This record gives sequence, C-alpha cells and structure tokens, in this order.
Amino acid sequence: MTYRDLVEQRDVIVCCGTGGVGKTTTAAATAMAAAQMGRRAAVVTIDPAKRLADALGIGALTNDPTVIDGPWPGTLAALMLDTKATFDDVVRRHAADDTQVDRILDNRFYVNVSTSLSGTQDYMAVEKLAELHASGDWDLVVVDTPPTRDALAFLEAPKLLTRLLDNAIYKLLISPQQGVLRAVNRAAGTVVRQLSRVVGADVVDDAIEFFQAFQGMEDGFKKRADATLSLLAADATAFVLVASPRADTLGEATYFLDRLRAADMRAAAVVVNRMLPSLSVDVDRAAELRSTLAGTDAAGLGIALADHAAAAAGDDDRIGELLTTAPDAVFARVPLLPSDVHDVDTLTQIAALLTASTGV
Ligand SMILES: Nc1ncnc2c1ncn2[C@@H]1O[C@H](COP(=O)(O)OP(=O)(O)O)[C@@H](O)[C@H]1O
Ligand SMILES: [Mg+2]
Repeated sequence: MTYRDLVEQRDVIVCCGTGGVGKTTTAAATAMAAAQMGRRAAVVTIDPAKRLADALGIGALTNDPTVIDGPWPGTLAALMLDTKATFDDVVRRHAADDTQVDRILDNRFYVNVSTSLSGTQDYMAVEKLAELHASGDWDLVVVDTPPTRDALAFLEAPKLLTRLLDNAIYKLLISPQQGVLRAVNRAAGTVVRQLSRVVGADVVDDAIEFFQAFQGMEDGFKKRADATLSLLAADATAFVLVASPRADTLGEATYFLDRLRAADMRAAAVVVNRMLPSLSVDVDRAAELRSTLAGTDAAGLGIALADHAAAAAGDDDRIGELLTTAPDAVFARVPLLPSDVHDVDTLTQIAALLTASTGV
C-alpha cells in the first residue's frame, strides 16, 4: 500500500494533525493528485492561507465547491468551510417547515452555537464531508480538519448536537409541565449558567426558546450523527496524519496516533511534511569536510554543510520513532520546499511528492 493507492482507492480522506504542519496543503495536494488520476475530487479546506485560496479560486468565502481548471483528466474542486452557512443548511434539512427554520435561525442562542461553540467547526466539517459524499458528485472527498490537539474531537463532533439534545436537563427545560420545571429549576439553572458562560451572558431565555424550537428534530439529528459516524469508520475512509519532523510537533503527532489507537481507529497514512532535504553526504563525511575546510575561504560552507547534515539526521531519527508508533501506516515524506505553497504549480509539486513516495 502506498499513498498513491489511498488517493486512487478511497472515497474519503481526512487530514488531521496540529496547526501549522501543512494540513491544508496536504489536503489540497491530495485532492489534486486524485484529479490527476482521473477522479472527481473535492477538498474541504479550513481557513487556507490567502494566497493558496486565491490560487485555488476560493478567495471569496464560498461554502460550495469551486471547480479549479488545470491540466488533469479528472475534476478538482475546493471549498472553504463556512461553519455558520453549513449549520444553517443542516437546520433547513431537518426542520419540518419554514416556520421552524426561521425560529431557529433567528434565535440568538443558535447564532452563538453555530459560530462560536467549541467543536462546531469540527461538527460542520464532518457535515460538509457527509453532504459532499452523499451527493454522488465526487469520487473522493478530502477534508482538512480544524487545528486541535485532540484527534478525537473530529470523531466526536457528529454527536455534538445529539448530546446536547439528549441531555436530561434539556428535556426538562422543554417540558410542558411547568411544575416539573419549577422543581428542577435550580439544577436547570446551573446548566444554563454553565452554558451561558460558554456562549455569553443573557442567553437563558434564548436557550430555552432554542431548545423548544428544536423539538421534533432530535431523531433526524441522531440518525444523521449515526450515519456520519459510520462514514468516518468505513473502510473507504482513510485518516491521514500530517506531522512535521521538528521535535515539538512530533510529540503531538505521537499523541494523535495514540488517541486514534485508543479509539480503535488507525491512521492509514502519516505524511511527514517539511523534511530537510537529505544531502549526498552523511553526518560523518560532512564533519570531515568541515575540518578539512576550516581556515580556508570555504570554511563557512563546511560549517553549513555539517549543520544541515546533523539536522537532517535528527529528523530521520525522530521519524524512525514515529514509524514504530504507527507500524501499519503508509509513510509519505515531503521535503521543505524553497517557497511557501501558494500557487497551483507548487501544489502540483507537493502532489507529485506525495504520490511518488514508496511508503516506507
Ligand atoms: N513542504 C513545504 N515546503 C514549504 N512550505 C510549506 C510546505 N508545506 C506547507 N508549507 C507552508 O507552510 C504554511 C503552513 O501550511 P498549511 O498547510 O497552511 O498548514 P496547516 O493547515 O497545518 O496550518 C503555509 O504557508 C504553506 O504554504
Ligand atoms: Mg490549515
């Protein structure tokens, strides 16, 4: 199994990892590689660097796939996740009628939940993924996940709303039996106060109104959450962990892999991005050259060479350790390029590097 096989065969690829390692870049390059193989690929990006977004034609915030023209036989489309717009779509899909839609969308508590509740972005990324997958328009959907320290935030995300709706206190809050409500007033008050600390003060009435407006939609949300969870767990779905060889982020990568394993999940691939390019001279030979060149005009060159060789060897050692943490995963190494990845040409280079990797 190689990275190329994953791109060629899977229906869904989820790129996870901490922020700044190159997740968005990897997700976009992966979708591009699929288009080069003739597949119809869509990538859901989260907050791409502005120049990459411009290069991909998603400079203006769009929540629907924009097709990117290029020299590939398949289709490449990209979109930038708009959490609020996606949440609004979800509400529209589940609501019984327009009145219920308006009641929810106009509710101030909803506006807070759909924009600033922690986990909402993960939740909507999964929703978008499920929506694109179900549309039948795409052979492969690649998702870039929000930066988080917890690999499982994404897996837990579909349950966000059902957990809220399952809450006993919520059930009592919407209970028509006012006597019961009064009896549990204090407990309910505590929960609402906790919620209000998260989403801002002065929301108690809005929250109750919000939950009341949601009545009748619980089952739909639960079914949807179950369906998206099965999609994430399906064999046709691959999790790709993006990491960098620097010591600090590598620790995070190991933590991610451990968390995934604890949840009985596997990373199908680990992309180690921004590897220092290895030179034709090893550490010992570089040190020798440094000694030989010392005192000559080329002394600076000798030092730079030795430093680089030592740093590259450090990368290799650390990657070796990561390899042992994920023995079943395909490894793909992508070198540090001389420039940022902000245009289609450079992205094409990353796609080529990913699919050329032999996997060990
Ligand atoms: N292999 C690479 N070589 C050079 N620059 C890279 C490479 N991979 C990513 N970058 C650059 O690093 C920055 C962060 O990458 P990005 O994909 O946005 O990370 P993330 O989504 O994980 O936060 C971007 O400016 C990107 O162009
Ligand atoms: Mg990103």
